[in-house]
Amino acid sequence: MGREIDTVAVLGAGSMGHGIAEVAAIAGYDVTLRDIEESYVEDGYEQLEWSVGKLAEKGQLDQDPDAVLDRVRTTTDLEAAVGDTDLVVEAIPEDLEMKRDLFADVEAATAADTILATNTSSLRVTDIAAETEHPERVCGMHFFNPPVKMDLVEVVSGEETDDDVVDAAYGFVESLDKTPVLVRKDIPEFVVNNVLVPFMEEPGWMRDAGEADVRQADAAMVYRRGYPMGPFELADFGGLDIFVHTREQWNEPVPECYRSLVDGDDLGRKTGEGFYDYEDGPGVDYE
Ligand code: 3HC
Repeated sequence: MGREIDTVAVLGAGSMGHGIAEVAAIAGYDVTLRDIEESYVEDGYEQLEWSVGKLAEKGQLDQDPDAVLDRVRTTTDLEAAVGDTDLVVEAIPEDLEMKRDLFADVEAATAADTILATNTSSLRVTDIAAETEHPERVCGMHFFNPPVKMDLVEVVSGEETDDDVVDAAYGFVESLDKTPVLVRKDIPEFVVNNVLVPFMEEPGWMRDAGEADVRQADAAMVYRRGYPMGPFELADFGGLDIFVHTREQWNEPVPECYRSLVDGDDLGRKTGEGFYDYEDGPGVDYE
C-alpha cells in the first residue's frame, strides 16, 4: 500500500457523510460526496455549506469558507466518485447487506491500492468486507456526530485488514487534526459505542419503570457529571430510529419510551420532536 492520500470519496451524504466530507475538505483534501439520489446529495451539500459558514461566522475556520467548498464536488455516479480516488469512506445506513453490496461494487471500480473505509458504528468491519476479494484493503474509520466538532475517531482493523491500511487510515485521521484511537478487536459497536449505548439505554429503562424522568436524567449527567448533553438529548440528537435499529439488529431489547416515540415517527431533532420538542430550535432547557 503506502499510497499517499490526496483525494477522498465519501459515500452517503447524510449527517455523518456530509460531516466527514466537510472535515476532509477543511484539511485540504479534494473530496467527492456521493449519494444515490440527487436530492440526498443536495441536502448533504447544503448542510455542509451551512456548517462551514457557521464555523467561519464563529471564527473557528482558519481559511476562506469558499476555498473549503471549492474542494467539494458532488455526484450520484458511483464509478465517477471512486474511480480515481485514494480513499473511500462509506457512510450509508447501518444495513449489512447494503454495505456488503456497496463494498463489492466499490472494489470493482477502484485501483488496487485505494483504501476502503467504513464509518459503521455498530457492524463488524470483517462482516462488511466479507464479499470483497481483498478484505485486507478494508478498515473501519468511525467518526462521531457531528464530525466537524468531535475530536475522536476510532480506526478499526478488521480480522484481515493489512497493517499498512490501518497505518494509512490512522495517519489520515491525524491529518484531519483529529485524535485516532486504534481498535484492534473487531467487535460490534467497537469501544466507544459499547460504552455509550448503555449510557443512553439505562435511563430509558429507568423512565419506563417510573424511576427517572427525561429532564431529571439529562440534568444529572450535564450538571453533575459535566457531559455536553444528557442521554435523552443525545439520543434525540443522533436519531431515535437509529438507536432502536442498532439495538434490534443485535436482537437486544429496547426500552418502551424509545420504541413508542419511533412508532409515532418522533425521531428526535430531525423531525422536530423526540424526548424533547425542537419546534423552536435545537436548544434544550433541563430546568
Ligand atoms: N457545524 C458547525 N457549527 C455547529 C455544528 C456543526 N455541525 N453543530 C452545532 N454548531 C453550532 C451551533 O449552531 C451553535 O451556533 P449558534 O451559537 O450560533 O447557535 C454553535 O455551534 C455552538 O453550539 P453550542 O454552544 O450549543 O455547542 P458546542 O459547540 O459547545 O457543542 C456539540 C455542540 C459538539 C454538539 C456538543 O453539544 C456535544 O459534544 N454534544 C455531544 C455530542 C456527542 O456525544 N456525539 C457523539 C454521539 S454518538 C455517535 O456519534 C456515535 C456514532 O456511531 C453515530
